[in-house]
Amino acid sequence: MLPKPMSSIWNLAHPWLRDLVAYEPGKPIEDVARELGLEPSSIVKLASNENPLGPSPKALEAMRATLERSHFYPDGGGYYLREAIAQRCGLARENVILGCGSNEVIEFIGHAFLKPGDEIITAEHAFVVYKLMATLFGARTVEVPDPGFKHDLDAMAAAITPATREVFVANPNNPTGTLVSQEEIDRFMDKVPDHVVVVFDEAYFEFLQNPPDTLKFIREGRNVVVLRTFSKIQGLANLRIGYGLAKPDLIAALQKTRQPFNANGIAQAGALAGLLDEEHQSKTRQITDEGRAYLEESFGKLQLEYVPSHANFVLVKVGDGKAVFSALLKQGIIVRDMAAYKLPEWIRVSVGTMDQNRRFVEGLTALQQAI
Ligand SMILES: Cc1ncc(COP(=O)(O)O)c(C=O)c1O
Repeated sequence: MLPKPMSSIWNLAHPWLRDLVAYEPGKPIEDVARELGLEPSSIVKLASNENPLGPSPKALEAMRATLERSHFYPDGGGYYLREAIAQRCGLARENVILGCGSNEVIEFIGHAFLKPGDEIITAEHAFVVYKLMATLFGARTVEVPDPGFKHDLDAMAAAITPATREVFVANPNNPTGTLVSQEEIDRFMDKVPDHVVVVFDEAYFEFLQNPPDTLKFIREGRNVVVLRTFSKIQGLANLRIGYGLAKPDLIAALQKTRQPFNANGIAQAGALAGLLDEEHQSKTRQITDEGRAYLEESFGKLQLEYVPSHANFVLVKVGDGKAVFSALLKQGIIVRDMAAYKLPEWIRVSVGTMDQNRRFVEGLTALQQAI
């Protein structure tokens, strides 16, 4: 007897998962080394907005000590780290939830508030994970045009309908690097109705000179979640640790969606020590400011259009983004092409050390001259 033909898995899985395109991360150094036969140490990765200085030495020390305790489960409640974050923000521990990266908190928010048929609102060129998460829960993403690559908060407020559950404001946004002002945020918040949760994603908050205050909305009891991370200025991207801030009942709802030990103990120890290491953060800010200014000046000299950035990366228009990405890759320089963001003519480059920035600019200049 012939075996029965297998029925499609799509008769079983949620139908909206068919449309879900997996997140495409920056190409890892190990992959490039293997594929191109290059020495890993010769490769420059400027593709994931990581900290080119690495983690804080104090974080490394704390993590090494915690390795010895790897046989114990971590503190599932994240007491000390949540307490330290709360103190820093002038909030209480009950205002803080830890995530396996701030990305996981985006998922918690989806678990808590989204069901099939709901809507979320993002800017057209917003960080792509909001849409991925909405799709995961069967919700629809309404993408609002962002002239000049800046979130148009008036238009985003106007797009709110009774079906809207979440609005995401990435500030600064990735991959555009643009920032919305306090005044724009305040005007927006005046218009947002109570059935909507507003998420201010502040992954690059610590790079800002005068950051807008969004924590005031939490103190006022609004339905707001502020996301921050240890992946960027803290240089702990590998550890996967980030957090959400909100009023206590909102955090309590998110806590119900969380796996028991989502934030591992080594990450918690590193994050706690890194949070208190002002010197490392200020060094990182300094090399980021210098490197970004150098990159933007170089793009100007090369007559390449770029988006002035408030974060540790710059979006630049190079013609054929995928071709430039591939040509730089052959030189051992990893950047990010922007096809996933419907920007095929652009690449995004993270700010590295000055040596790394120069190597990238030299590579790009050679390519421009070859055209
Ligand atoms: C705007 C934005 N939000 C969130 C994240 C995710 O960060 P994490 O590593 O904390 O998950 C990123 C990472 O690139 C980002 O750019």
